[in-house]
Amino acid sequence: MSLPKHVAIIMDGNGRWAQLKRRPRTFGHIKGTRVAKKIITACSRRGIKNLTLYAFSTENWFRPQEEVSLLMMILRRYLKRETENLVKENIRFSVIGDMALIPLDVSDAIAHSMEATAHCTGLHLVFALSYGSRQEITNTVKEIAMRVAAGELAPEDIDESLINSTLSTYPTPDPDLIIRTSGEQRLSNFLLWQAAYSEFYFTEVLWPNFTESHLDEALHAFSKRQRRYGKVTTNDNVEKLSN
Ligand code: IPE
Ligand code: IPE
Ligand code: MG
Repeated sequence: MSLPKHVAIIMDGNGRWAQLKRRPRTFGHIKGTRVAKKIITACSRRGIKNLTLYAFSTENWFRPQEEVSLLMMILRRYLKRETENLVKENIRFSVIGDMALIPLDVSDAIAHSMEATAHCTGLHLVFALSYGSRQEITNTVKEIAMRVAAGELAPEDIDESLINSTLSTYPTPDPDLIIRTSGEQRLSNFLLWQAAYSEFYFTEVLWPNFTESHLDEALHAFSKRQRRYGKVTTNDNVEKLSN
């Protein structure tokens, strides 16, 4: 079975899951974090090399202050509790997103987890946190423009590979498979450039109900996809079609 090198997950539906149980949205986020923990281990054990989890978008800052603070607290607690486990599982942790907006105690916890796992050679786990792809692309354009203005680069030097290597995701390869839970079928400002040739897998399952077997279903579906990148495969009988 062909395994994606990079799986990215839009973990959606925590709020609706809690609502169905007549509990506050935060209850869903707590359960969602437990699920994330399981799925991280599952990906690591299946030999996936890169896993990006969309944990908090730039737009999520506009949620009620109370929900935002609780999400930050859950994140900090997760990192404090889990870092040792990440090391044990040989998982290297990093983040993409605008860290300037993250509360200091959380960014400290992030820095600590990154440092503690820097030597790990197994799964590379990336949290997209305070992340927005348009913002990332805007920053990339700005950075390249500044290098041009400084005379370091000529406009002719700007190509896809330069843009790629200036994005915050570099050097992680583009996601092969993007999973979104909860029935929504959109990217919500996630990895817009990087998703050019990603395979998408949408499921109605709410993130707090997502299990290892749902992950396996997604991986199985991925292995059946034919990726053509705009070309024709050797199976396509071109001559026959032109006759
Ligand atoms: C995803 O669940 C978690 C975050 C965006 C932080 P939601 O909180 O978006 O849950 P729904 O979509 O409202 O059910
Ligand atoms: C996307 O989910 C962000 C995360 C899962 C962290 P949202 O729930 O914020 O997205 P929309 O608002 O439904 O597009
Ligand atoms: Mg949502």
